[in-house]
Amino acid sequence: MIFSSIKIGSLEVSNRIVVAPMCQYSAINGEMTNWHTQHLMQLGYSAAGLIMVEATAVEKIGRITHNCVGIYDDKCTISLKKNLQLAKSVAPNNSRFGIQLAHAGRKASTQRPWEGRSYLSKKENPWKTICPSPIPFHESWHVPQEMKLSDIERVKKKFISASLKAVEIGFDLIEIHGTHGYLLHQFLSPISNKRKDKYGGNLENRMRFPLEIFSSIKSVLPNDFPLGMRITGTEWENNGIDQNEATIFAKELEKIGCDYVCVSSGGNTPNPKIPIGPHYQVHLAKKIKKDTKMVVRTVGMITDPIQANNIIINKNADMVAMGRAFLSNPRWVWDAAKVLNHDIEVPPQYARRI
Ligand SMILES: Cc1cc2nc3c(=O)[nH]c(=O)nc-3n(C[C@H](O)[C@H](O)[C@H](O)COP(=O)(O)O)c2cc1C
Repeated sequence: MIFSSIKIGSLEVSNRIVVAPMCQYSAINGEMTNWHTQHLMQLGYSAAGLIMVEATAVEKIGRITHNCVGIYDDKCTISLKKNLQLAKSVAPNNSRFGIQLAHAGRKASTQRPWEGRSYLSKKENPWKTICPSPIPFHESWHVPQEMKLSDIERVKKKFISASLKAVEIGFDLIEIHGTHGYLLHQFLSPISNKRKDKYGGNLENRMRFPLEIFSSIKSVLPNDFPLGMRITGTEWENNGIDQNEATIFAKELEKIGCDYVCVSSGGNTPNPKIPIGPHYQVHLAKKIKKDTKMVVRTVGMITDPIQANNIIINKNADMVAMGRAFLSNPRWVWDAAKVLNHDIEVPPQYARRI
């Protein structure tokens, strides 16, 4: 059931409930602020088995907005460490914390969601973005710069140094952001990758950059350090990554030692035809679970404890991540335990609530 423990590689996780990574767009110069402190502290004692810290940029130009968190200089790293320690200080001992390492590629240099989510205008201090090919996310958007081989090597090094810092800071797990239309996804997708070199063209070539990023991180991490990727189950486009390509990619990740995948979808095109509704991505995880032996996490409009539990019981996925459900109710796990008749530890200060 959802409250049973699970191992992700060598990491024991006390239950299968995950707080999905969620950008707060509230950092200053890549450093977390008080907003992050309260956000991570309240989710810290949520009793979720794994709490994912938001997409964290491995280099400054890889931030989505001016207000995204980074891990590219000492100040950002110190603020991440401080906030992780604060969250851990109020969390149950067996709660695990992961960080999602990211590069936004052509979807960088944009406004925060509540400011419109569009590309930054000249007045808004925009910066030059990079992409496998000079194709904008939307025809009205800025044109990104095609990455040279030297850019590819630089970004690889940035992911490596970010990963080493994440371990040093004290994270229990690293997730590479490989979906939602950000840089790794841009390489994998035939929609955004029209390169003529070994990084573009057929699927083998399009997979090369994300797989190289994965391997180069893996090669510097301590043995058995849990490492996974958030991937695209489908782009919901006729000419994009489909479930078959997603499965081939997942199998390649498995071959090179990936401990888990979280299967999400879309994000690389402005208007994909997504059949939005409860559990709309579960079938994508199910297919990858059937075809690999990795731990598979699902996500997307999962809110009801009984239905979330059924995902695990029916073996459609091994873990369930939730985003907005935790924003509206950080005590989701406590309420789910009541519904599912399961005993969990809650902070004694709040125990009378139950
Ligand atoms: C405020 C907000 C910020 C998000 N930021 C990220 C992020 O940093 N990385 C990521 O992979 N997904 C991000 N997402 C997507 C969520 O992780 C999740 O996949 C999505 O919200 C669907 O799950 P839900 O229906 O349970 O919210 C974000 C979603 C929200 C609502």
